[in-house]
Amino acid sequence: MKEIEAIYLKDYKKPLYCIKDVTLVFDIFDEYTVVKNTMNIIKEDQESNELALDSIDLELLTLKLDGVELESSRYSYEDEKLTIKDTPQTFTLYIENKIYPNENTELEGLYNSGDIICTQNEPEGFRRITPYLDRPDVMSVFTTTVIADREKYPVLLSNGNKRQCHDSFDNRHGVTWHDPHPKPAYLFAVVAGDLGVVEDSFVTMSKQEVALNIYCDKGNESKCTHAMHSLKSAMKWDEEKYQREYDLEYYNIVAVDSFNMGAMENKGLNIFNSHYVLADETTATDANFMGIESVIAHEYFHNWTGNRITCRDWFQLTLKEGLTVYRDQTFSADMNSEAIQRISDVKTLKERQFVEDASPTSHPIQPKSYISMNNFYTATVYEKGAEVIRMIHTLIGELNFFNAMQLYFDKFDGMAVTVDEFLWAMQEASGHDLTAFKLWYDQSGTPTLKVEESYEDGVYRLNTKQIVPLNVEKEEQKPYYYPLKIALFDEITYECVVEEMLIISKESEEFVFKGLKNGVVLSINRDFSAPIIVKQKDPKYRFLMMHDTNSFVRYESAQAYALEVLELLLAGKDIPREYKEAYGYLLDLDGDLSYKALLLELPTVTAMMQNREDIDVQKLISARERLEKELVLEYREKIIQLYETHHQPKNSEIDASSMAQRAIKNRALKLLGCLETQEISQIAYKQYEESLTMTDKVVALEVLENISQELSQKAFSDFYERYSNDTLVMNKYFALLASSKRDGVLQRVEQLENDEVFDIKVPNLVRSLIGTFARNEKYFHATDGSGYKYLAKKIIEVDKINAQMASSLAGAFKIYKKLNSKSQKLMKVELECVVSTQSISKNLFEIVDKILNK
Ligand code: ARG
Ligand code: ZN
Repeated sequence: MKEIEAIYLKDYKKPLYCIKDVTLVFDIFDEYTVVKNTMNIIKEDQESNELALDSIDLELLTLKLDGVELESSRYSYEDEKLTIKDTPQTFTLYIENKIYPNENTELEGLYNSGDIICTQNEPEGFRRITPYLDRPDVMSVFTTTVIADREKYPVLLSNGNKRQCHDSFDNRHGVTWHDPHPKPAYLFAVVAGDLGVVEDSFVTMSKQEVALNIYCDKGNESKCTHAMHSLKSAMKWDEEKYQREYDLEYYNIVAVDSFNMGAMENKGLNIFNSHYVLADETTATDANFMGIESVIAHEYFHNWTGNRITCRDWFQLTLKEGLTVYRDQTFSADMNSEAIQRISDVKTLKERQFVEDASPTSHPIQPKSYISMNNFYTATVYEKGAEVIRMIHTLIGELNFFNAMQLYFDKFDGMAVTVDEFLWAMQEASGHDLTAFKLWYDQSGTPTLKVEESYEDGVYRLNTKQIVPLNVEKEEQKPYYYPLKIALFDEITYECVVEEMLIISKESEEFVFKGLKNGVVLSINRDFSAPIIVKQKDPKYRFLMMHDTNSFVRYESAQAYALEVLELLLAGKDIPREYKEAYGYLLDLDGDLSYKALLLELPTVTAMMQNREDIDVQKLISARERLEKELVLEYREKIIQLYETHHQPKNSEIDASSMAQRAIKNRALKLLGCLETQEISQIAYKQYEESLTMTDKVVALEVLENISQELSQKAFSDFYERYSNDTLVMNKYFALLASSKRDGVLQRVEQLENDEVFDIKVPNLVRSLIGTFARNEKYFHATDGSGYKYLAKKIIEVDKINAQMASSLAGAFKIYKKLNSKSQKLMKVELECVVSTQSISKNLFEIVDKILNK
């Protein structure tokens, strides 16, 4: 292995050589694959004579330059570089090497997912396939032939358009694919397998017909309907909204069970975690359906934001990811409910990105250095990156944003660029100076805006002060530039009297509003116009949650109000009467039921942890449990009624109103669960038995698991019997059991590792069982340290199999510094044990070292 060392953005240098085109042949056999790689190379830098190709763990068979076998003095292979010495100006390099996909447990490069052979090359997987200039600014035209046994691998795919099919001897066959669009190696893909397929087609705005194929394990074809439908909606939306058309004869998607992340946008051949493809009402939840729609769209949108225009280097990752997340979020908002989309996007941002931003792994959306790039596919780069794009949209407006995007597409098509080129287009087309805005790309941590108000004789003054946290190097950072949407409500008539977008640009500012009739209530950061924390002297949460016209602020205020009450409980006080009434008011609301289901949700423990130090997790959990129980006792009848009104067990439609009904009655059932009575477990058991949808079954199981050992066992064994052959459903089974609130979770989780369905090599299963346990605050943070110990042990074990999985599990320790000293001590022992493990991966080292030392 190479030394563990960091790579810096400031060290970026242009490539010394370019690869004009590359012809690849994959000769696939049971035990190994031979890769034949022919590259036409041009020297770009006259000073250099050495071509250093990236190359990890490759067995070289042949090496020829312009047809002549290279003598050993002409090349070297060490430290993950294959270096060719004394190269001419232009030349053809031929390399033959051998790889072992079925021994590849990292799931990077070419690997086996069950019987399917597939690839994952972003960011640096291609160097595990064949020696190459594996960096995004080296773009090349790929022609790929895949050859394999005809029976075992009838389907052979790669990027681009299908050129020809060949028959060869020995029952083998081959297919050649040609991708006319130059692309970096990270977008390269190959698939071979005996796959089922669902076929459809799409006619683009310029009347080109595209064949759409979704490949999956045989027998799952009927579960691809929703994915196909989502794909077509995404294609149409990108034409209408951005004038972007698809550019190949094929759009292929392959669903595989073993995948490190969600999905990958390889040109013309997306490879997906089957979790984001396969669904029907009886095996997938409503949330799964939404997830599929959004990830299918995300990968499709990458075709323009990512593939046609790609990143110069990996520090620019947010250029394609932040932008594409922004695009998929607005797509989902257009397809479903804008209000609910916004609320759930912000919810995820706060649950994941705010936590990251407050931790030792905090980084700017454009990181300045990394040890393992795989560690930077983060909530910050993705979700905060999307918020940054959204702020630009808010600042310059819809039409300017559209024009700026067109300019970006026109100018940089076919290029590998940086965030500066993107910002240039935004600025050029809108005339809005974004120089100050750029800090959002360079600084880390969540900024706070402190707000003070005063009112006198019809004049309202809003005084703001930015509090910008130090970065992880403990350096000071500058105030930001951002849009802040606000409104003022007349406190007597409840009328909205001011609605504005302020621009915050200085450390301290004053905004004055005159000519007001009465005192006003401030509604701030409407639609979450900036990813900041607002601190206000005397916020009117109750008023806002009842009267604000902005659905986001109403939701936020309900959450913030509950958080305020939780603080009171933690300080030994009681729940104020007014709060209980306000919650009762929410229960009585008419209107959108999905929205109401969100309003009735109490803040998570993660939300309670925010802005806290010296955390005693168990105390937070108890306070939350108490609040929930008192509310439910107070409104038991109403909540039961809500359940009964909307429980429609035989409805398995996935239209908005059916989903909304399930959302509200399942919210009711979950709330009722805290009563832990016979009556409630009977209701839950009945729902488990009679409901047709997986959505209902999962909620029923969750409630049962927490309150009734007996009924829970009955339901879970039925569930197991029914679904043990369906790995996606088994993920839910493991996750439900690992998130249990009943005593003895850890022992049960350890036992489940031995279940024949569990496989530590399959990322989805690891995430479901071990990852979910690490998010089960009550038991992960057990006061005897058993949760930490268990996770550390598993991380060390998983690291030897799949470094990416290990470092992502280690994320659960990010909260380290914020815990009280007792928990910190317990965690420290485990973190030190992980970091001192022999031959720890650089992925895992980077994360744990930061947690311990930053
Ligand atoms: N580009 C992919 C996507 O956003 C994700 C690739 C993640 N790669 C990784 N090594 N984590 O859809
Ligand atoms: Zn992406």
